[in-house]
Amino acid sequence: MQLTNRINRIQVSATAAVINAAEQLKAKGVDIADFGPGEPDFPTPEHIKKAAIKAIEENRTKYTPTGGIMPLREAITAWHKRELGSDYTAKECVVTVGGKHSIFNAISVLIQNGDEVILPAPYWVSFPDIIKYAGGTPVIVETRPEDGFGAKAADIEKAITPKTKMVIVNSPSNPSGGVVDGPEFEKILAICKKHNVWVMGDECYSHFVYEPHKPFSIASAKDSKASVIIIGSVSKTFAMTGWRIGYTLAPEELIQAMIKVQSQSTSNPTSIAQYAALEAMRGSMDTVPPMLAEYAKRRKRIVEGLRAIPGVTCEWPGGAFYAFPNVSAHLGESKNAAAKNCTELSKLLLEKAHVALVAGEAFGAPGFLRLSYATSIERIEEGLRRLEKFFSRAEAAA
Ligand SMILES: Cc1ncc(COP(=O)(O)O)c(C=O)c1O
Repeated sequence: MQLTNRINRIQVSATAAVINAAEQLKAKGVDIADFGPGEPDFPTPEHIKKAAIKAIEENRTKYTPTGGIMPLREAITAWHKRELGSDYTAKECVVTVGGKHSIFNAISVLIQNGDEVILPAPYWVSFPDIIKYAGGTPVIVETRPEDGFGAKAADIEKAITPKTKMVIVNSPSNPSGGVVDGPEFEKILAICKKHNVWVMGDECYSHFVYEPHKPFSIASAKDSKASVIIIGSVSKTFAMTGWRIGYTLAPEELIQAMIKVQSQSTSNPTSIAQYAALEAMRGSMDTVPPMLAEYAKRRKRIVEGLRAIPGVTCEWPGGAFYAFPNVSAHLGESKNAAAKNCTELSKLLLEKAHVALVAGEAFGAPGFLRLSYATSIERIEEGLRRLEKFFSRAEAAA
């Protein structure tokens, strides 16, 4: 079949591939210790579910304005102002079908052939493909484990060329949990302003940060508006991944262009989900601290457990819910190595140890593995036992 060059430039998400492989084994009755999924294991809070039910009962089941209902656009800007210190109006906000849709549409209206987009690695799997689909070139800038995988302004500046159109900063980061704190983020913004480059701040994990970090938005920086595109989502903060509601905050002209794309593709995000998101934005945030406290407990257990495995090192993730250990000591060409690379290792771990996780190669970080700890402490314990056994057998064989 003759498909377009555009579609041939991208691949199916590697995280989706792992989830599918694990699901196939589960369907055969295999007990998998599953560190694959990048989504909260908590249910959507009751008050949010009730708002959706009410919306159905009130027949709010028709088309809405393409960019989302006005009360939601207003509520998002009010929430963002209160929680993260920005100052947007509803016209500077568009509601999308999840944060990923926001990223896709913002990049599709700003990036074209010949443009470069700076992307700190390890990066979330979808960024390079979305950039390539739009015709742009991802320019990868490495971050360092010893900096907690936080992007550094000096490294970004070195990568800027006359073709650079945008820098993407995903803080806290999926997959590394890296956090870029306010002062460093403001330095990145200053560099971008100097070179007339957009900063896209992906804040999907904004409220899941561990001490001493605090939720931060680059939109709170003085005079940031003209250079900043904020990507947000209710998926993680409110355990609403399946509802598919995200948003962009940006200058009105950009928002209008994104609404134009939306008007010729998806139309409005699901009306019922918008009413649920309206409740998330307006209602109590009391469900968030208990989730964060639970993630903090799991983070401690998984990082300590991984560090106890010989040949494995692991930084403390500053945010999100992923551990990102380095297992390169177990890789190599020799017969003593567990596997050649992490892609091969993750397959072996799934087949032999029944542990599902994602290979670092998918995130531009060979030698690393991503383990989501959005799963119970009991399953974390079980997974750690399996990993310990797998790696100590590999040690014994060495
Ligand atoms: C870094 C990052 N950005 C954006 C998203 C998109 O989330 P959603 O489309 O569910 O809002 C994800 C989801 O995993 C993510 O990890």
